Amino acid sequence: MSNDENPMAGHEVDGIQELDNRLPRWWVWLFNITIVFSVFYLLYFDVLKIGDSQAAQYEREMARARGDTGPSAVAAAPQFDTPSTDPQVLARGRALYMSNCAVCHAPDGGGLIGPNLTDDYFIHGPTFADKMHVIREGVPAKGMISWKSQMRPADIHAVASFVDSLRGTTPAQAKAPEGVKADG
Ligand code: HEC
Repeated sequence: MSNDENPMAGHEVDGIQELDNRLPRWWVWLFNITIVFSVFYLLYFDVLKIGDSQAAQYEREMARARGDTGPSAVAAAPQFDTPSTDPQVLARGRALYMSNCAVCHAPDGGGLIGPNLTDDYFIHGPTFADKMHVIREGVPAKGMISWKSQMRPADIHAVASFVDSLRGTTPAQAKAPEGVKADG
């Protein structure tokens, strides 16, 4: 009921009358532009999915902070296929092992709650890839923690390399063998 000559809307409450002024042109245009914008926004982010959602952006940022570039970064990174022999990497692996793993596997790898890591018997396989996998994914049902959310891929590789270097050493107290004897 807009009426330029008589802007009175005819509503009156307690002696106060409501005016029915026209909305300013600039305001109406801004409003229209937001509607047009929302159509492109919807198409870009939700229909065609060209742009990343906030959740996807967050995931990407977190992955970058963790030092990997995607969920399969460890599996795909060829430098993690073999144990490192670099003294610096092994020293880092040793430090990580002492602070995270020694409680269960003993400082020299002889085994406590967790199995002996120095012998030739393996529950989860003898290869380096097996070690990487079990450290990354853990065996939650058996008390072995999954480390992938706490350690960067490079750190998992370092600690796995250190564990690999324990094989064949003689611990002070060796836990009885568990698992299957490896040939190689
Ligand atoms: C809370 C105790 C605990 C901690 C901490 C722990 N482990 Fe374990 N770990 C275990 C147990 C228990 C197993 C045996 C799992 C099974 O029986 O399947 C195991 C198994 C393993 C195996 C496989 C051994 C095999 O015979 O196949 C490796 C390798 C290993 N752990 C490395 C590590 C490393 C490296 C860390 C530190 C980053 C670590 N663990 C920390 C308890 C632990």
